[in-house]
This record gives sequence, C-alpha cells and structure tokens, in this order.
Amino acid sequence: MTLFDVYPLFDINIVKGRGCSVWDDKGQEYLDLYGGHAVISIGHCHPHYVEKLTEQLNALGFYSNSVVNTLQRQLAERLGKACGYDDYQLFLINSGAEANENALKLASFKTGRTRVLSASKAFHGRTSLAVEATDNPKIIAPINANNHVTYLPLNDLDAWEHELAKGDVCACIIECIQGVGGIKLATEEFAKGLQAACKKYGAVLICDEIQCGYGRSGKFFAHQWLGIRPDLITVAKGIGNGFPMGAVLISPDFKPEYGQLGTTFGGNHLACAAALAVLDVIESEHLVDNAHEAGEYLMAKLKELQTTEKRITDVRGRGLMIGIDLDIPHKALRQNLVYTQHCFTGCASTNILRLLPPLCFTKSMADDFIGRLKKAFAEI
Ligand SMILES: Cc1ncc(COP(=O)(O)O)c(C=O)c1O
Repeated sequence: MTLFDVYPLFDINIVKGRGCSVWDDKGQEYLDLYGGHAVISIGHCHPHYVEKLTEQLNALGFYSNSVVNTLQRQLAERLGKACGYDDYQLFLINSGAEANENALKLASFKTGRTRVLSASKAFHGRTSLAVEATDNPKIIAPINANNHVTYLPLNDLDAWEHELAKGDVCACIIECIQGVGGIKLATEEFAKGLQAACKKYGAVLICDEIQCGYGRSGKFFAHQWLGIRPDLITVAKGIGNGFPMGAVLISPDFKPEYGQLGTTFGGNHLACAAALAVLDVIESEHLVDNAHEAGEYLMAKLKELQTTEKRITDVRGRGLMIGIDLDIPHKALRQNLVYTQHCFTGCASTNILRLLPPLCFTKSMADDFIGRLKKAFAEI
C-alpha cells in the first residue's frame, strides 16, 4: 500500500523535539516557528507532559463515555477557571473540525434553523458542515455543497446584520484572528456589533479559537481582546499539545439532552491527561503572558526589519500568531528558511509567512529567528 498523496511535503524526517526545537534523522536541529501547525502549545516533549501521559498510560489508556471519567470533570473545572468561562459546559471530541461540526449542530438544534454566516477566507475544518463553512471551493466536495452557508467580508458589520435580519440564521461563526486566511484580525467594533446582532435576531455566535485560542494571542482566547462573550467556543490544537483533541465550550443557555451529541474517543483518559498537563504548564510557566510579551517583542523586531527589507509589506498579528506579508511568493523564502537556515515557518495564501511558534518561545529565540530571516532574504 502507498500513502494517499495529499500533502506537499518538505523532504525532512523529524524524529525528535524539545521546547521550540525539532531534530531530523540526521541530527540537524531546526528552530520551530510553526509548532506543527499551531498545535504545540507548551513546547515539544515537555517533561511534565511526558510524565503525566506515561503515568496515565500505565494506569488506563481508554474507556468509553458510558462510565464516569473524573479526568473529564477535572478538566472542565480547570479549563473553566483558566479561561474565565466557569459557568460554561464542556463537550470533548478529537479534532478542530469535529468541534465546529458539533458547535454548528448545537446552534441548529437550539434555533431550529439551518443557515450559517461565515467569513470570507474562513477556515473551519474538513468535515461536512465545517468544510461548508470554509471559504475554499477547492475542498468542498459536491456532497458538502448544501447551500447552508453565506460568506461575508470579515469586519463588514452591515453585511452581516443585513443577512441576520432575514431571521433564518442559526449561527455566525468567526475566527477572531484568521489563520489560514492570512492573519486577518476581527475588529472590536465588528465583534461587539455582531454579538449584539446575533442576540437581536436569535442566532448563535460561535468563535472558532482552534488556531488563535489557548493562549496563542496573549490572552486565553483571541475574542477576549475584543470584549465579547460568544455562545459557543471551539478549541483544538494547543489543548493537547499534539494529543488529538478538540472541545466545545457551551453557554449555560444550552440545555443538554442524553444522546444529542456523542463520540467514541472524545475525552478519553489519555487525552484528558494530556490536556490537564498542558494546563499545568500553561499556568506554572505563565505561557499566556509569555505569548503576549515574546509576541510583542518579535512583532517589534519584524516591523524594524520591514524598514530596511522592502520585500516585507506588512507585519500584523497578536501574541505568537504573526503574519508577514511579502511582495514576492513565499515559496523560495520558506525553502531557504527550512533547508539552509534550519527554521520552520508556516504560510498562508501565496505570499504570507505565518509564525505560530510554541508558547514558550523566548526573546532570544526571536533574535535568533530575525538573524536567520535576514540571511534567507539575502540569499534568495
Ligand atoms: C481556525 C481553524 N478551525 C478549524 C481547524 C480544523 O482543525 P482540525 O484540522 O483539527 O480538524 C483548523 C485547522 O487548521 C483551524 O485553523
């Protein structure tokens, strides 16, 4: 059998990780400003995380959602306190797409409606509803094209209000910092206006915090920069630091019913042990504050570089979620960064570098990266 060849790959076999570094099978170290696609929150192979997962695996790896799982209850309590949503309810699944799928289902169950508003350039995952809410026709199969979703420009409040006023919208789903869309930020005015309009017209507001959440923006959730409190919040990626996991945070207005949602693997013992260890480290190492400080430092350094490097046309983001617009395609620069400077970065569109390092990234790593980026620019 061969692999179903859907990923364009760097020809590098990563075999080891520690903190913000990874190593290939030849022993070459790489500085990781990609975090395995924003997944690594507390750093690769954090000793506390390894210890807690190992301990749990030696006790019990998995049992089903038909019995009490005290780890799930601990996680709900800890996460509620850590993110400021103590009064919300937690539903656990295995990925980001599943989190959005379940959030959209909840919105539809609650309102009895089927129409969704989503932002231009949004990315919400690849399962049926999540992909339909994703503004990329190339990944929406004909079977997923069911006319549930209207895409509207992020921050164009009038356009969203106009559609909401039709009274048939079950949910508005937004990323307060778009990831795949190229680090585009929702404004406070838009977010507050959208929240009010959702209330007025009986629609559910969903914030997809799968990439921008879990401390990455320098607050626990990116929407907390904008002073809103969505009805549903979806998370994944950083929650498990690489252990596949997702979650929906659900406002008290939603009343659960037995059997309404469900999953075999979601919230299993190992996943919960991973998520609890992640929260331990986020708290003990103050990683949300670190993301804010290290992110501001890196952004300032990038803006300084922009004054001399004319191929950089914009630098924006929050915390450790930063986009660098280029007036050239990113391909050659990223290739040089990986193969010559030994530094992983993400990308968006054809001309945006996307930086998503682990939340334990430091100022000296930021200086190191700037040095490597300068060299890469000089060599391409
Ligand atoms: C904002 C956002 N939503 C949803 C997803 C989908 O998550 P997953 O790949 O875990 O299904 C992603 C993944 O990149 C994402 O960035």
